[in-house]
Amino acid sequence: MRIDTLPQYTKLPSNHISNCTVIVVDVLRASTSIITAVQNGAQQIVPTADAGEAAAVVGRLGLRDCVLAGERGGEKLSGFDIGNSPSEFSKSLVGGKTVVISTTNGTVAIHGLSSAKTLLIGGMINKTAIAKKALELKNDVLIVCAGTDGNVSADDICAAGAIADAIVNNSDETVDLTDFTRVSIALYKDLHDERFDLSKTRHFSRLVELGFEKDTELCFEEDVTDVVPVYANGIITLFR
Ligand code: MLT
Repeated sequence: MRIDTLPQYTKLPSNHISNCTVIVVDVLRASTSIITAVQNGAQQIVPTADAGEAAAVVGRLGLRDCVLAGERGGEKLSGFDIGNSPSEFSKSLVGGKTVVISTTNGTVAIHGLSSAKTLLIGGMINKTAIAKKALELKNDVLIVCAGTDGNVSADDICAAGAIADAIVNNSDETVDLTDFTRVSIALYKDLHDERFDLSKTRHFSRLVELGFEKDTELCFEEDVTDVVPVYANGIITLFR
């Protein structure tokens, strides 16, 4: 098995990913929120490319059965039920419901990667569970970091490294790692051993400025859940 890592999302030709397990990582915060929603019993999650599409989906499905979630620049979209803090996706709010979500980078990346053989949603909170699932699937893995506004985001690189490291540690066979995957693992280990200060990086520090420091802590807790969300046919559900 080979693990490649893309430092920031760009649209990929479908022949590039149609044989791969693709893992999308937007650790701060879209992928962590989506994993949390699935963990808390959301029936399905509909990631949308923009806010207008999100509102249209809710209009179609009916307000009563939906929770409308989303942010721009980190802040809750006006008229939406909740923003993009993982803690907002509580059991009492999302249990049994359809969550329709639009975020600046994460949901756009999920959309753009729909031609993957299997498309999984990864973060720190499910790193070992997703690593085991990727090993079970036996295909080459491409970890795609969503990034922030077209730029590389160090938080995503660290989470990608954590997932790649978990795949290596759980594999009985030698795993072929591309150079950027090795760089990601090295950054994750530096973070883990407190040699790298993520709080100085752009998206992380912006979230703290906006008052979302608790989110940054929640999103970097490791192996909190075994839940692995999968995207297929326009919806995200629990991978079984
Ligand atoms: C995104 O999709 O850009 C993010 O998840 C931004 C955020 O809310 O932190």
